[in-house]
Amino acid sequence: MTAHDEVPRPHDDEVTLAACPDGPLLLRGPARIVDDRGRDVPRHRATVALCRCGGTAIPPWCDGTHKVNGYRSET
Ligand code: FES
Repeated sequence: MTAHDEVPRPHDDEVTLAACPDGPLLLRGPARIVDDRGRDVPRHRATVALCRCGGTAIPPWCDGTHKVNGYRSET
């Protein structure tokens, strides 16, 4: 751990969910992700990409399939 790690940055506890045009939802911050049974889905990164095209082979994560399956978002 460095001295920098010990000083909380502003908004470290903030959660944001941002839609990528024609792509995934980017989840940033300390949100808990659960599956359809309420079980925790482990995450190993501060920012994760959640599939919204339905084509991923590794749900709930985006695996890049949206780039080849023709997914188009409205946002
Ligand atoms: S949004 Fe990327 S695989 Fe579905």
